Amino acid sequence: RGVNNVPASTVQVPAPTNVVEASKRLAAWTAVDMHVTKDCQVIGIGSGSTVPYVVERIVSQGPEVNKDRVFIPTGFQSKELIVDAHLRLGDVDQYPHIDVTIDGADEVDNDLNCIKGGGACHLREKVLAEAADTWIVVADYRKNSEVLGKTWKQGVPVEVAPFAYAKVLHNLQTLGSTGPKLRMAKMKAGPIVSDNGNFVIDAPFHEQEMKDPLTLLTRIKMLTGVVEVGLFCHMAKAVYFGNQDGSVTAK
Ligand code: 5RP
Repeated sequence: RGVNNVPASTVQVPAPTNVVEASKRLAAWTAVDMHVTKDCQVIGIGSGSTVPYVVERIVSQGPEVNKDRVFIPTGFQSKELIVDAHLRLGDVDQYPHIDVTIDGADEVDNDLNCIKGGGACHLREKVLAEAADTWIVVADYRKNSEVLGKTWKQGVPVEVAPFAYAKVLHNLQTLGSTGPKLRMAKMKAGPIVSDNGNFVIDAPFHEQEMKDPLTLLTRIKMLTGVVEVGLFCHMAKAVYFGNQDGSVTAK
């Protein structure tokens, strides 16, 4: 399905300027068309560069359907997106039961396990994924993988309490991580800080460990000081990838 045969939305998202952006938009629009039905009242909005196209498509459904809906963000960026689109903002403590959440991913394997947290939002993203009846992932073709770690090389994002980061770095090495690193801000100005005030470690693992992400998730989550792990196992109901040729792959 092409992206040019549907009406433009009124939200200000720049038109895709290259094939990767067009693929993101195609995935996002397809997911909205398939899963954001009229009866969806509480909608979770994920983080990253694919999600603005989700909001764009939701806005294009019109004010009549959107006026009774509430939108729950996974972080600062998605909060801004919701507010800028003049959609009603809520929070997960007011709306712990979400109809559908749509989010991006850094990599997705054939069992729909995902690596997330490239934007350091994976704690809130996982809360909104778990709170939703239906969790849907949208991504461009580069994220479609057989085994996690094949294309996302920087490792599993691990959010940690700041005072525990050095201990957790050591623990991750003991678990087999090949060079876990504290994620630094641009120009190495200091560690990046998540919306929750925590640090993020990127922990690469060998393919053998990545082939069993649920076991790896369980082991990392057991480490004291770890707040959340960017492995989302058996959570997605469906994943849509936009392809370079204008087609969509659904997993
Ligand atoms: C942020 C995320 C994002 O969803 C993930 O990084 C994908 O982003 P993009 O759509 O820009 O590829 O997990 O924590």
